[in-house]
Amino acid sequence: MTQPRHVAIVMDGNGRWARQRLLPRAAGHKAGIGPVRLCIEQCAQRGIEALTLFAFSSENWARPDEEVSSLMGLFLSALEREVAELHSNQVRLRFIGDVSTLSAPLQASMAGSQSLTAANTGLHLQIAISYGGRWDIVSAARQLAARCAAGQLQPQDIDEQMLSAGLQLAGLPDPDLFIRTGGEQRISNFLLWNLAYSELYFTDQLWPDFDVAGFEAALAYFASRSRRFGRTGEQLARSS
Ligand code: FPP
Repeated sequence: MTQPRHVAIVMDGNGRWARQRLLPRAAGHKAGIGPVRLCIEQCAQRGIEALTLFAFSSENWARPDEEVSSLMGLFLSALEREVAELHSNQVRLRFIGDVSTLSAPLQASMAGSQSLTAANTGLHLQIAISYGGRWDIVSAARQLAARCAAGQLQPQDIDEQMLSAGLQLAGLPDPDLFIRTGGEQRISNFLLWNLAYSELYFTDQLWPDFDVAGFEAALAYFASRSRRFGRTGEQLARSS
């Protein structure tokens, strides 16, 4: 079965999961930690090279203060609790997004766990916090504009590879498989550039309920797709 090299996930449905149980939204986010662990384990066991999780978008700052602070507390406590085990399993952890907007303790913990795991050779795990796909492209464009203004680069020499090299996921293959739980069929400003040719898989399962069977269903969907990257089916048949 063909498996993806890189899986990207929008973990949606925590709030609804909590509401169904008459619990506060924070309880839904807390219950979302289990499936995060499960997906990391599944990817590591199956030899999937990279996993990128959308934990908090640039737009999520607009949520009520109480929810934002409970999410930030959850990220910090989960990180402190899990980093040693991730490290012992050879996971290389990185954060993508505008870290300057986060609290000093969270930034310090993120930086510490990134440097601890930087040389690991197993799963490349990216967690997107305060991330937006448009912000990512604008940041990369700004770097190129600065090089042009400094006379180091001519605008007509800018190509796709140069812009890619300035994005948060530089150096990783683009996600082959995008998964979104929670029933909505949207990309919601996730990896806008990198998802250009990804297979998109949507499931009604709410994130806290996402399980091995759900992950396997997404992999089976991926394996059933014929990926043409803009070419015709006949061209692909001839080249294989
Ligand atoms: C979207 O569900 C989920 C989030 C904004 C937070 C995701 C965070 C976790 C799963 C916690 C664990 C993460 C890490 C990396 C430790 P929603 O609140 O929009 O749900 P709703 O659409 O049902 O309201």
